[in-house]
Amino acid sequence: MKIAIGCDHGGIILKQAVTEELKKRGIQVEDKGCFDTSSVDYPDYALAVAEDVSSGRCDKGILMCGTGIGISIAANKVKGIRCAVCHDVFTATMCSAHNNANILAMGGRVITPELAEKMVAAWLDTPFEGGRHTSRVNKITAIEEKYFK
Ligand code: RB5
Repeated sequence: MKIAIGCDHGGIILKQAVTEELKKRGIQVEDKGCFDTSSVDYPDYALAVAEDVSSGRCDKGILMCGTGIGISIAANKVKGIRCAVCHDVFTATMCSAHNNANILAMGGRVITPELAEKMVAAWLDTPFEGGRHTSRVNKITAIEEKYFK
């Protein structure tokens, strides 16, 4: 499995912890930056990760900014992306089980690096449940088909 990761200056501490968790699991990491605490614009990193996932170059993605909000909003503008901003192990689990989220977003000013590692583990270890959730996710795709040109 290959996972694309990206963050702005508000998410850089989480990115370090998340990278360690992924490498511990033997997952190939495609790091799209940023690489220091200089102020940058989160949409640039959201786009880089979302394009890797949407094109199939990476299987999934993880994005981090101060709150996880801006970077998730930007990622969800790319066709095929279901990016979920999560705050705990429960939401990280459910976004995979029910929403088949292909990008997990988190906030470096909201959660600790230790919690981020646990959330990444829960998200990766939880399969999409399918069943009744498939038709709901398909309806999200139908909205994309209607409005994305
Ligand atoms: C950057 O200061 C901050 O706005 C950004 O990291 C993020 O929280 C935006 O949603």
